[in-house]
Amino acid sequence: MRRKDYPTLRRDPAFAGHSRSAILEEAENIPSNPATAPTMGEVIGARYGRRALLEGALATTAITALVGPTALATARRAAANAGPETRFRFDEIAHGVDETHHVAAGHRAEILLRWGDPVVPGVPAFDPMNQTAAAQARQFGYNCDYVGFAPLPVGSNGGDRGLLCVNQEYTNEELMFPGLGGEQDAKQMAFKNMTRALVDIEMAAHGASIVEIARAANGRWRIEAESRLNRRITADTPMTIAGLAAGHDRMRTKADPTGLRCNGTLNNCAGGMTPWGTYLTAEENFHFYFWGEVASESAEARNHRRYGVPGRGYNWGAYHDRFDVAKEPNEANRFGWIVEIDPYDPSAVPVKRTALGRMKHEGAEAIVNRDGRVVLYMGDDERFEYIYKYVSHGRFDPANREANRRLLDEGTLFVARYEADGSFVWLPLVWGAGPLTPQNGFASQADVMIETRRAADLLGATRMDRPEDVEASPRTHKVYAIMTNNANRKADQLDAANPRAANDWGHIIEMTQPGDDHAALGGTWEMLVRCGDPAVAAVGARYHAATSRNGWFACPDNMAFDNQGRLWIATDQGTSWKKASGTADGLWGLETEGAMRGYAKMFFRVPVGAELCGPQFSADGRTLFLAI
Ligand code: FEO
Ligand code: CA
Ligand code: CA
Repeated sequence: MRRKDYPTLRRDPAFAGHSRSAILEEAENIPSNPATAPTMGEVIGARYGRRALLEGALATTAITALVGPTALATARRAAANAGPETRFRFDEIAHGVDETHHVAAGHRAEILLRWGDPVVPGVPAFDPMNQTAAAQARQFGYNCDYVGFAPLPVGSNGGDRGLLCVNQEYTNEELMFPGLGGEQDAKQMAFKNMTRALVDIEMAAHGASIVEIARAANGRWRIEAESRLNRRITADTPMTIAGLAAGHDRMRTKADPTGLRCNGTLNNCAGGMTPWGTYLTAEENFHFYFWGEVASESAEARNHRRYGVPGRGYNWGAYHDRFDVAKEPNEANRFGWIVEIDPYDPSAVPVKRTALGRMKHEGAEAIVNRDGRVVLYMGDDERFEYIYKYVSHGRFDPANREANRRLLDEGTLFVARYEADGSFVWLPLVWGAGPLTPQNGFASQADVMIETRRAADLLGATRMDRPEDVEASPRTHKVYAIMTNNANRKADQLDAANPRAANDWGHIIEMTQPGDDHAALGGTWEMLVRCGDPAVAAVGARYHAATSRNGWFACPDNMAFDNQGRLWIATDQGTSWKKASGTADGLWGLETEGAMRGYAKMFFRVPVGAELCGPQFSADGRTLFLAI
């Protein structure tokens, strides 16, 4: 399939005047997965018929709870009299399009942190007309994404004090810098007045912020501006590389002949917190930061192509050779990882954990399995990419924080394959097993880690509709995986787990593993909801029939379970919101259990065009932290 990369789209008259965000979204939506793994559901919906017969009335009830427009209308009439028996007991807000945020009645929404706010003590006040990299490296960064919470003191539930851990995903220089001048040049990828100083500000605005916050007697949270724990991580922060690819030849550069040290983290998307109190941040669209030409005979050409490197979204390569793949072909191999940060120690060097695989990572919540092993579920956020999980070899030891970090260096990475009969398997990415051999270009486990995508192709994993966040219910241990959308899926590419062509709306899959064992090698799966407007038959959306005209959503992205085991869904339609839903993004409660399974209800709405990330609850569930 011909690839339209960022520069091509920038030149495309159809995108004239479009923002960086719009073009980046379109470019990231272009699949780089050439795999032709067989599609499984030749006949869509066949599995429901078969399973209903096999499992009898219970399964039939669960399936018929998710219905189309006619039953929805009937249920709405009934609901108007009775009101649904949902555990989400707030007054639902309405869909809409405006420039402000809206929250359900009886709740208060306040801004806690903004781009440019001081993070590290002693930083000058933010002056957008006189930005410097030195100041930005100590101020809150740009385009916040994941929100995590590390309780204070360590090991407490942090009811009234903790460290907010926020990803700063990417920069919109056309919005950040006054007088940048016109549109980005499609050849040089520069705005007219772009300078090295501005690029360095962008680099300082990437990464993460760690900020101590405390709850005052009036219930409001405030920043502890003088906390010694406040910290910025940027695209230049020194880091180490650990795990199966650490020190490998393909990880070495001129600046780092050891392959064990690198600078910075990029495009940090949803992450997670570990049971030992560290913060995991996911490197997502790292390919955008690289430019230059990869020679076709280059040893890394096939690898780079599979990840869309160079993505040419930024012109950093003009000022920093490491972002030019012709000059430094291995630098891109040092991105696309999960990075572990110790928020409790501001001098701790962040670590890239290569045993968790290299992809456009999204989500990394760590779970302690019933046998003590640590399990992480992860998405690779691009059209037609895969869902992964990692299972540690060792067991979590609550008394040995230091030893627990090794759990992320020694373990097995798996990729998911979903069958049409409602089963699924986790396929191990283990060197030497199956096709992961020298004949296929894998000389060691390090090669499997660096080229995780190609290894998963060879194993025949299921190509999904942009896998985003994956979370497990702490109550039922069922696992939920979000597919955000995939407009490129064609009618002849459908399978049971990705059942709609031109899927502008996304869907959520539920996985059940035998014995609630997160280390299981497979299990069964169900569709929880198919997103979009259920009142429009052509959309093919499926929710619980009692879901109101405001309860449905499009393009789910992040999610969280609250302390009552209820699931909350945050959406990100990007600049496609008009096409996907015609309304702004927001936060919805979504029932996962019982008679109301598949019922959704809208709690919060963002200014139109904004993305909603997080969500992160305080321990008592009274506060919800959101990144807009
Ligand atoms: Fe950065 Fe997958 O959203
Ligand atoms: Ca995301
Ligand atoms: Ca997103």
